[in-house]
Parts: sequence; C-alpha cells; structure tokens
Amino acid sequence: MAADTGFSFGEVMIHEEQILARAAEIGKAISEEFANEEVLVVGILKGAVLWLSDVIKHIDLDVHIDFMAVSSYGASTKSSGVVRIVKDLDTSIEGKNVIIVEDIVDSGVTLNYLKSYLLGMGPKSLRICALLDKPAGRRAEIDVDYVGFTVDDRFIVGYGLDYNQRYRNLPYITCLI
Ligand code: IMP
Ligand code: MG
Repeated sequence: MAADTGFSFGEVMIHEEQILARAAEIGKAISEEFANEEVLVVGILKGAVLWLSDVIKHIDLDVHIDFMAVSSYGASTKSSGVVRIVKDLDTSIEGKNVIIVEDIVDSGVTLNYLKSYLLGMGPKSLRICALLDKPAGRRAEIDVDYVGFTVDDRFIVGYGLDYNQRYRNLPYITCLI
C-alpha cells in the first residue's frame, strides 16, 4: 500500500537509468537544433524539476532557466480542466528560444494554454519537452517536440510526478493501482 492513499504501487515502468539515457539524447537533440544560439528553459513546477535538471546537463549551449507554476489536480487523479498561473516568469522571453519542460502531457489542456500564453510574449521559437506523454488522455491538441517516453492510461507517480504532493522523490516511474 502506498502510505494511506488507498492505492498500491504498480510495477516499475521506467527505471532511472532509462530516464537518464533519454535525457542525454534529448539534451543532445536540443543542442543540435539550436546550435550556436541561446535557449531559455522554462520548467513547470513542481513535477518537471527532476527531468529538467537531467536534460539541461546535456544541452551544450548557453542555457538560462526560469520556472512557472500552474494550478494542479489537487487531491484527485483527474484534471479539473482549469489552468491558473500561480507563478509567472521572472524574465522576458521576447526574442528568445524558449523550451517549456513539463513532467507529463495528459489532456494537453495545461500546455495548450501555456503555449498560447507564451507565444503572446513574442519568443523567437517555442518548443515543448515532456518527460512523459499519455496520449489516451488527450482533450486539447498539442504538439510535443521532445518526448521522453509514451505511457499508457494509468496514474503515474515518481520522478517528479505526484499524487497529492507525494512520491515526487521516487527515482523511477511507477503507477498507482
Ligand atoms: P494536462 O493538462 O491534463 O495535460 O495535465 C497536466 C498536469 O497534470 C501535469 O503537469 C501533471 O502535473 C498532471 N498529471 C497528468 N497526468 C498525471 C499522472 O498520471 N500522474 C501525475 N500527474 C499527472
Ligand atoms: Mg502535478
């Protein structure tokens, strides 16, 4: 049993070594796409923190980072569909190559909203990099440029992903069952 949540953990779906290897590949791909340019990596708090730190170590460019926080699920495994910015950017993104880093794309509502919000600020380019993609949950159309792994329609925890703020520290991806 996963503490007192009423759920149990499923099997380990993605091991830390796999995540680190994928982060290196994506960091290299970003370095190639933006060769000789600067990038501003915008992490979406809190879930993207572990993945962001892995990816940026492999971006061989001038990298700046910033963070945003948006409203989350709360104590539920289903999205409310409402997006609220809780913490906005500290820096201007105008004319910059922006890469949004997110933990998981589920319905796509969050990234769809963030993408149009950030595009309104005139970046030079805007890419999306997500640790996980859960296409079964999709309700809003969104192109994810860099995907770590595609997962089935399960409630995922670990490696930054939480259930009611718990389990972000697990060094692997698992699910609640
Ligand atoms: P979306 O707006 O439905 O795409 O969901 C975005 C946010 O919901 C993600 O950034 C996560 O914080 C959260 N989320 C979606 N699916 C899961 C999951 O399986 N486990 C944990 N959090 C999730
Ligand atoms: Mg979350």
